[in-house]
Amino acid sequence: MENLEAKITQADSLEALEKVRIELFGKKGLLAAEFAKMKDIPGPEKKAFAQGLNEKKAALQQAFDARYEVLKAEAVETMLKAEEIDVSLYGTLAQKGVLHPVMETMDKIIDYFVALNFSVETGGMIEDDFHNFEALNLPKYHPARDMQDTFYFKDGGLLRTHTSPVQIRTMLKEKPSIRMIAPGTVFRRDYDVTHTPMFHQVEGLVVDEKGKVSFANLKAILTDFLQYMFGDVDVRFRPSFFPFTEPSAEVDISCIFCGGEGCRVCSHTGWIEILGCGIVDPNVFKAVDYEDVSGYAFGLGVERIAMLMHQIPDLRSLFEGDIRLLEQFR
Ligand code: PHE
Repeated sequence: MENLEAKITQADSLEALEKVRIELFGKKGLLAAEFAKMKDIPGPEKKAFAQGLNEKKAALQQAFDARYEVLKAEAVETMLKAEEIDVSLYGTLAQKGVLHPVMETMDKIIDYFVALNFSVETGGMIEDDFHNFEALNLPKYHPARDMQDTFYFKDGGLLRTHTSPVQIRTMLKEKPSIRMIAPGTVFRRDYDVTHTPMFHQVEGLVVDEKGKVSFANLKAILTDFLQYMFGDVDVRFRPSFFPFTEPSAEVDISCIFCGGEGCRVCSHTGWIEILGCGIVDPNVFKAVDYEDVSGYAFGLGVERIAMLMHQIPDLRSLFEGDIRLLEQFR
């Protein structure tokens, strides 16, 4: 039985030691076999035999425990080495949020005009008849009111249908000259692939002494702005009508998808309508008590530009809050 201790001290891993434990201390192990011999030992020698065996067992147990401690410590050491953290390695980066494509487009537009010293004005989304229509040369029963399907409140208030009331509010609040934009949310009763009841506009207004602001200025700034937004596009001004500007124009860019050749997006015209503008109508200045001034104004739809820039086929998808859609703009 002498080499039993050696078995223990020679076990070089916890697994090997476990095998030794079963071999020695197990139910069918060597010690159990020795104890079994007891029944054949004659009476007088039994006691001495049992005592010797118990001492042997205790010694082995002690050797086992000691070896176990050593191997366990080694195993822990190896595990710590293996699981060591290298703080110089890259971790998993947390996902960064991104701006909604409409807000991103809005910011890009605002950046342009702020760089040209336009102030950024805001107004409320709930407006009254005077600021949204009347002062903008849209008297009651004027047929042009039909152009804008308005949400009305019972008390006669309304959700603004455009950002133009901010022109009125700014002029009532300040003396000329004015050089402002008004980004904001507007509302119309409209719902299809290119219209949602809530959308965003950026309004622009420049007012100065009579004769200082011309259609040529308007044309120059809008052409430069649209080329900043869309790159190397052609820009054309098409006569149009707005009650608050005279003359008025709608501005088109050459189709960014076909380069003006004609395709589905531009309805085979080669042009895409992008904004409305004009020289401020004298009746608007009258409504805010401005005299001897001239000005230009423009208004554009942010969603329309975002749709073109990101080739979004259905505008409504932008407002359904589906994270999978928004993740595409990461
Ligand atoms: N307010 C007009 C609209 O919502 C846009 C516009 C603004 C046109 C300023 C001319 C001048 O359609």
